[in-house]
Amino acid sequence: MSLQRVCVADFEEEAKRVLPKAVYDYYRSGADEQGTLADNVAAFNRWRLVPRVLRDVSSVDLSVSVLGQKLSMPVCAAATAMQRMAHPEGETATARACRAVGTGMMLSSWATSTIEEVMSSMGASSPGGVMWLQLYIYKDRELTLSLVRRAEEAGYKAIFVTVDTPYLGRRRDDMRNRFKLPPHLSLSNFSSASLAFSEDNYGDDSGLAVYVAKAIDPSLSWDDITWLKKHTHLPVIVKGIVNADDAAQAVTYGVDGVLVSNHGARQLDGVSATLDVLEEVVQAVQGRCDVYMDGGVRRGTDVLKALALGATAVFIGRPVLWGLACQGEQGVTEVLELLKAELRLAMALTGCRSVSEVSRSLVRKVEFPSRM
Ligand code: FNR
Repeated sequence: MSLQRVCVADFEEEAKRVLPKAVYDYYRSGADEQGTLADNVAAFNRWRLVPRVLRDVSSVDLSVSVLGQKLSMPVCAAATAMQRMAHPEGETATARACRAVGTGMMLSSWATSTIEEVMSSMGASSPGGVMWLQLYIYKDRELTLSLVRRAEEAGYKAIFVTVDTPYLGRRRDDMRNRFKLPPHLSLSNFSSASLAFSEDNYGDDSGLAVYVAKAIDPSLSWDDITWLKKHTHLPVIVKGIVNADDAAQAVTYGVDGVLVSNHGARQLDGVSATLDVLEEVVQAVQGRCDVYMDGGVRRGTDVLKALALGATAVFIGRPVLWGLACQGEQGVTEVLELLKAELRLAMALTGCRSVSEVSRSLVRKVEFPSRM
């Protein structure tokens, strides 16, 4: 590992130097005044660790089972759109890094690489590495189902359906930058220019906000979860739950998991930090399906705290993009290995020899945290 990059913040600093401003802004931004963006990270400082000692931590096993697949650690790559803006190999580099580290990658519907090329770039027969598809439900349901079928045929193992984006949040930098894809890139899973986000007529707004208003279905409801489950044999996970009542409702619709997420604080400012609602969701679900979380995970201790509050695994969005911008596949591998090493140390120093030994008693909430 590079000596200069010893924490996720180091990768972000370097990424900021190498990326064009509009790309860095698109990756980094949250909605509106970005209070929730900061709070997703700050929430981890509201919880302190209460370690156990004298437990022979000479060997620590980080492996977990996620949706029936064994992963080397409970940290996976979240769907982030348009990764070829960060590096020419984009999503294919991320997929190879995830395979090398033995973890899972959720491919965005808005990838700049196709469902098929990402899978084949990974080497379908190689062990380690699992691909899942993140699905946006388009107004055109046949088109939506064609993405699902392609994922099934290519060997993806689950569908994460995003439910928090009936409209795109107001990301001020993207509005000021009139964000759109550079002309050599497109949303590769779509053949028509209008759905591939490669037209040139998005006006004075964030191009992506215009695209979402045109293509994505704001009438989405629970019936669509039933519809999706009817049309795929893959596990369906609902991505974008923050309310415990929604989590309980998701269970009654037979989902295989809920992903506690506020879309990396990119949709609505003022929404709770995801860590703050994780425990309520876990309690509402009562073990009837898996609970995952994302948002603000930047350190091994963050992962440990989320596991202690009941997550089966966590997802990271921006840290992967920073790794990709710094050094492509190698950079993503470094970010994942960094979090793995930090988590291993955090588990050892709190007396956990395996993920199953991470318990609620390891964390305590503090009312007025000083900055950590
Ligand atoms: C995202 N996210 C996202 N989610 C989704 O369902 N589909 C998508 O295409 C994208 N695209 C996307 C782009 C970028 C640049 C970011 C930062 C995020 C949300 C993502 O899956 C995840 O929920 C958050 O990124 C997690 O928060 P952190 O780890 O970035 O703090």
